[in-house]
Amino acid sequence: MSPMRTLISEPEIKDRVRQIGAEISEDYNARTPTLVCVLKGALIFFADLIRVITLDVNCEFVQTSSYHDKTLSSGEAKLVFNSKLNFKNIDVIIIEDIIDTGISLTSLIAEIQRTIPASLKVCSLLNKPSRRIKPVQIDYLGFEIENHFVVGYGLDHAQKYRNLPYIAILDPNEIREQII
Ligand code: IMP
Ligand code: MG
Repeated sequence: MSPMRTLISEPEIKDRVRQIGAEISEDYNARTPTLVCVLKGALIFFADLIRVITLDVNCEFVQTSSYHDKTLSSGEAKLVFNSKLNFKNIDVIIIEDIIDTGISLTSLIAEIQRTIPASLKVCSLLNKPSRRIKPVQIDYLGFEIENHFVVGYGLDHAQKYRNLPYIAILDPNEIREQII
């Protein structure tokens, strides 16, 4: 791994995750929400978040088509894996790593809404509003960031750096391909 500039440190992430967990625990009170982890990027956030939620939760997993598969022309992301197809009458919280253009999340929300959940909220560790193409509502947010390509704490570049315990700005020289 090459040295990178830390944007959000391990203790900062830990504190914020604990706060979000407390908020969700309070908002959902005696209910049992289903937390939907958007693979692969949200995996670390998801694992840490569910352990600071003091309610019973159900865990489900989905994967949308990868960042590089998305084209400007379609403006849509494809669901490539879904561990549960029906969320009827269920309180659902989508757990994302980062909302960038909003394309993946918009597609995922539409898929889940079709199954008529009792409620649907969005929780994302990061938000990059400067790159938004599709407007989305984020109900629980960790951090808003500038237009940097970030890695670590689950987020990757070409599948690398997911295991960094903090969030770092990727050296622009490492970004070989043009992203969107
Ligand atoms: P969106 O559909 O453009 O909002 O993209 C969302 C997905 O793209 C995220 O869930 C990430 O997997 C990926 N992504 C967007 N920005 C970054 C970044 O800065 N670093 C790593 N992955 C990113
Ligand atoms: Mg993602």
